[in-house]
Amino acid sequence: MSELPGTRLARVVLASNNAGKLREFDAMLGAAGIALIAQGELGVPEAEEPHVTFVENALAKARHAARLTGLPALADDSGLCVRALGGEPGVYSARFAQRAGGEKSDAANNAYLVERLRGQADRRGYYFCVLVLVRHADDPEPLIAEGRWHGEILDAPRGEHGFGYDPYFFLPDMNATAAQLEPAVKNSRSHRAIALAALLARLKEER
Ligand code: IMP
Repeated sequence: MSELPGTRLARVVLASNNAGKLREFDAMLGAAGIALIAQGELGVPEAEEPHVTFVENALAKARHAARLTGLPALADDSGLCVRALGGEPGVYSARFAQRAGGEKSDAANNAYLVERLRGQADRRGYYFCVLVLVRHADDPEPLIAEGRWHGEILDAPRGEHGFGYDPYFFLPDMNATAAQLEPAVKNSRSHRAIALAALLARLKEER
């Protein structure tokens, strides 16, 4: 593409319609001079996420958005990986309860998570995020970055901010759940923030 990342990459389509993620990325990337456009604003429907790895799903979403818009595209795939559950819900985080016959909602996912961990002493888990930036749909060298944010799973919710599993995701070093953090604080420490910092570093290397 004519616009090299890190130089003139002003307009990038975000391959997600998740309002929570859009808010977080927008806050983080705006500071780096990148204007994100949600794919929904450009009429791009959600891509399938059929793969068993985060990176394959993110790449599929980024390619899909770049192909339909002609713009560079950023996609993430993320989820919660819980040690005592062998890494579940993992890539299926958004559909955790649904896959077990429940609803596709944060409330159902959280209730199912608490149920699966009942009586379990090991509460360790982490949020994982992989980010993929393609300069165009057939970019042979997508930029890929990842981030992990370690915490523990509670069995009762705390806090009102964030989305998804945040009210149950406790950060011992902050003595708070992700949902108790101010959005700006979460945005500076989260798995997405870690992945994004790595991605921005890669973009700088490309200059
Ligand atoms: P994706 O849209 O396929 O990446 O699915 C991400 C899912 O992982 C979300 O729907 C949430 O269930 C979970 N998730 C990812 N990041 C976060 C976060 O920062 N807070 C809470 N839940 C998250």
